[in-house]
Amino acid sequence: MKIAGQNYRTIWPDPNNAKVIKVIDQRHLPHQLVIEDLHNVADFARAIKEMHVRGAGLIGATAGYGMYSAGLHAPADRFQESLKADGDRLIATRPTATNLAWAVQRQLDAVRGVSDAAHGMEILYRTATEIADEDAEFCRRIGEHGLAIIRDLSRKKPGEPVNILTHCNAGWLAFVDYGSATAPIYAAHREGIKVHVWVDETRPWLQGAKLTAWELKEEGVPHTLVADNTGGHLMQHGMVDMVIVGTDRTTRSGDVANKIGTYLKALAAKDNGVPFYVALPSSTFDWTISDGVREIPIEQRGGEEICQVCGLTEDGRNEKVQIAPPGTATANYGFDVTPARFITGLISERGICPASEAGIRELFPEKFI
Ligand code: MRU
Repeated sequence: MKIAGQNYRTIWPDPNNAKVIKVIDQRHLPHQLVIEDLHNVADFARAIKEMHVRGAGLIGATAGYGMYSAGLHAPADRFQESLKADGDRLIATRPTATNLAWAVQRQLDAVRGVSDAAHGMEILYRTATEIADEDAEFCRRIGEHGLAIIRDLSRKKPGEPVNILTHCNAGWLAFVDYGSATAPIYAAHREGIKVHVWVDETRPWLQGAKLTAWELKEEGVPHTLVADNTGGHLMQHGMVDMVIVGTDRTTRSGDVANKIGTYLKALAAKDNGVPFYVALPSSTFDWTISDGVREIPIEQRGGEEICQVCGLTEDGRNEKVQIAPPGTATANYGFDVTPARFITGLISERGICPASEAGIRELFPEKFI
């Protein structure tokens, strides 16, 4: 998608040095565009853990390239063991987004039984590229499928914008390109359908205020930033036509873990009869679990993310300031689970289905054999 009119992905190999992978360091957005070079597994692990890159799809793509980088540095006589250890190191960085372990496993499966390190390297590079390209393509298709929903809503209010509320950033910055929740919005905007997005600020990391608002601005999509607790009020007053959010892990029965606060938006949507959609590439399914509340691991992050806030000073410096009394006890849960019963539909690369085991089975029968 576009930054200052120029097309970017969130991650790509350095065209001048195939051993280096480039990412947008999202900690500096929206005030500064910083491109970071990742050279080895330690760089990849830090970039994921400290959220230079974030969002389920991008975490997966970064892990894919991280495994390629692991291969570059693996001793030829311990190629497989070294890869496995580096894969475990990457998986340990963040617990909730299932794409991380999925991408590491896909790489390990791709090189299983390969003893020639040079051949292994070719496979790891090819597979990392496939993971990234597939992520972008699946999000593009999510856009096509989700567009039909927005088109229908638009026909019911000719001349008026379709008001869409989204939480956090399931935009292109959370993937390789297009985004999941934003892909239908971008597709509708490109088709000339009037859309307007309510952007939840998304405390504490502020993915909505910093990233989603920036993305939408760069793409010229009308939007309004709101404080996190505003959604219920907007819905009660008929100001939201639909909600679209992303997911970091989805169970086989359609429960989803998404950024903390998503569940409350789903409750408000249910109470107000507002359709609540979740957009996801199939890489965010965890096919092994069914009960999201009991089985999805929820990341807890440091309290400083709640007690402090980072932003641009009047004289143009990016600074962190303390907002809570020093020493305040904190609980910083990164995600919550929205049970399937609150979800109108799942928008995947294969189409839209009910958030239920039966619905998901219709689209992904091979996963239920
Ligand atoms: O903590 P993050 O920023 O990695 O969380 C991911 C998210 O941005 C959201 O939960 C998002 O809505 C889904 S990721 C596709």
